[in-house]
Amino acid sequence: MTNRKVEAARAALQEVRSGMRLGLGTGSTAAEFVKLLGDALRDGTLRDIRCTCTSEQTEAQAREAGVPTFALYEVAPLDLAVDGADEIDRNLRLIKGRGGALLREKIVEQQALRFIVIADDSKIVERLGVGVLPVEVTPFAREVLERRFAEMGLAPVLRLRDGKPRVTDEGHLILDVRVPENVDVADCVARMREHAGVVDTGFFPTEATEAIIAGDDGIRRMTRG
Ligand code: A5P
Repeated sequence: MTNRKVEAARAALQEVRSGMRLGLGTGSTAAEFVKLLGDALRDGTLRDIRCTCTSEQTEAQAREAGVPTFALYEVAPLDLAVDGADEIDRNLRLIKGRGGALLREKIVEQQALRFIVIADDSKIVERLGVGVLPVEVTPFAREVLERRFAEMGLAPVLRLRDGKPRVTDEGHLILDVRVPENVDVADCVARMREHAGVVDTGFFPTEATEAIIAGDDGIRRMTRG
């Protein structure tokens, strides 16, 4: 069986030209793109590419793959960012961050002239909020926000890794919340963001300009209208 993540990543690589400045995403699909980019640089198909990464994890992978990496400010604005997503709706709104890199992802992707989401078709949803919505919070505010979000009916759960609170690359914590079925994710996010201590959420309403979706029938492209 062909790997859909690889197919989507390969299609995104076709959009890369020598000399571009790129933002590299985080997660298993973005990792396929980084791998293919490393191959293309090694065999000379692409050259003079300058990248910035959305996580320490991707930074390590890029270095290993021989992909040149820079601090964001050294290469922004970016020609193109390529990243996966957890949920994608028909308006190209996204939920991201189940890999924990939501804040750096949003910072980098907002610096990109084009942001292509790559995914297999299991990520397409009718309504965002099928799974959890990650919310990045300051450690100081964690317990009170947890209590407040519980009162709001959002069933917050502190993200753990190896039995300990998961600390993001920016030194924050993650509360995974459930958006109630009768509430639009944008409204839910607006209410949460009224609370100091919420740094950002995994809701990406406008960042993606395009999506490359790999499914049984091949590649499908979505563009922001
Ligand atoms: C990382 O924080 C996320 O936003 C990822 O982009 C998202 O979880 C998709 O990951 P996969 O490609 O592994 O499904």
